[in-house]
Amino acid sequence: MAGEVRLAVVGCGNLGALHAGNCRRVEGVRPIAFADAQEAAAQKLAAGFADSYATADVARVWRDDDVDAVLICTHHDSHPDLAVAAAEAGKHVFVEKPLALTVAECERIEAAVARAGVQLMVGFKMRFMPLIQEVRRRLPRPLLLVGQMMDGRWGDTHWAQDPRTGGGNVLSQGVHNLDLLWYLAGGGEPESVYAAGGTLTHRDTEVIDNVFGTIRFRPGCVAALLNGDAGRPSFTSKFFYEVFDGTRIATLYDRCHRASFDGPDGGELRAEEAFPDQDPEGFVQELAEFVECVRNNRPPVIGATARDGTRATRLVHAAFESVRGGNVVRLP
Ligand SMILES: NC(=O)c1ccc[n+]([C@@H]2O[C@H](COP(=O)([O-])OP(=O)(O)OC[C@H]3O[C@@H](n4cnc5c(N)ncnc54)[C@H](O)[C@@H]3O)[C@@H](O)[C@H]2O)c1
Repeated sequence: MAGEVRLAVVGCGNLGALHAGNCRRVEGVRPIAFADAQEAAAQKLAAGFADSYATADVARVWRDDDVDAVLICTHHDSHPDLAVAAAEAGKHVFVEKPLALTVAECERIEAAVARAGVQLMVGFKMRFMPLIQEVRRRLPRPLLLVGQMMDGRWGDTHWAQDPRTGGGNVLSQGVHNLDLLWYLAGGGEPESVYAAGGTLTHRDTEVIDNVFGTIRFRPGCVAALLNGDAGRPSFTSKFFYEVFDGTRIATLYDRCHRASFDGPDGGELRAEEAFPDQDPEGFVQELAEFVECVRNNRPPVIGATARDGTRATRLVHAAFESVRGGNVVRLP
C-alpha cells in the first residue's frame, strides 16, 4: 500500500487520545475517524484533526472505505466484538492490551483475523521501550528473570477493576508483565505456572488482585513475577526487571527508563540519553511499527501478534488457576 495510512480510533478516552496525539510524531499516518459510545469523547478528539469526523455509530467506521486500519482503545469486554467486526470489514487492527479477557475470546479474534487476512497487533508497548530492546540485544538467552509490576492501589469503582468489563489489575496490567517475560526469555513457549496470592487489596471483590508466581519457559529459562496494586515502590518504580544469563546481569528500573548492567560491557544507561530519538515508554515506536505493518501488509517484526495476545491472557488465567488450586498448572 502506497501513501498515507488512514486510521480510525475506536474508544476516545485516555489511550485513544494518546495514540491519536502520537500520529503527529509518526510519518505518513493520519486519524480520519473517531468513534466512541459517548459521542462527546469522539468529538473532543476529532476537533484536533482537520478533515476527520466523530461518531457514536462504530459501524460507520467499518463501512468507510477510506479507513485502512483501526485502533481499538475501549474497555476490555468490548475488544472481541470490535476486533472481529473490524477484521470482517477488511481493516487492519491494533487492539490495546489485553487482547481479550478470556482465552476463548482471544482465540475467536485470532480466527477472525486469519480468515480475513488482515494484520493484528496488540498494544504491548513495553516490547518497544528502547531499554527493553537493549537488554534483549545484550542478553538474548537468559537463564533467570524477575518481573515486577506493582502499582498503587486501584480504585474500587474503576472500570478496569470490574471483573466483567476490566478483569482487575492483574489481568489488565499483568498481561504486559507476562508478555514481556516471555519476550525477554527469548521466545521459548511457557511450560508451567505456579502462583500464590489472592484477593488482598480489594476484599469485597471477586478478582484476584495480587499474585506472586513462577513460570518455566522451554528450553529452560525460569521467571519470577509479582503483579498487583499493594503499593508503588519508589526505589524500584512500578516496572522493575532483572535478567541473568550466567555472565551478565541487567537491571531495569525507573519504569524501565534506566538500566544497570553488570559483567562484561557493564555500566548504566538512561533511555532519554542513550536513545534521545525514541519514546522511553515505547508508544511512538509501537505506533510506527503498526503503521509499517498496515503499509506492507506484514506482521509486526517485534511481535505483539494476536497469538502473543492469547498467550499473555492464557498465562494470567494459569496464574489465577494456580492461586485458587495451589497446584502447578501445565500449559498446552
Ligand atoms: N498500553 C498501556 O500502557 C495502557 C495504559 C492504559 C490503558 N490501556 C488500555 O487502553 C484501553 C482503554 O483504556 P483507557 O484508559 O483509555 O480507558 P478510558 O475509559 O479512558 O476510555 C475508553 C473509551 O472507550 C469508550 N467505549 C467503551 N466501550 C465502547 C464500545 N463498545 N464502543 C465504543 N466506545 C466504547 C468509552 O466511552 C471511553 O471513552 C484498555 O484496553 C486499557 O487496558 C493501555
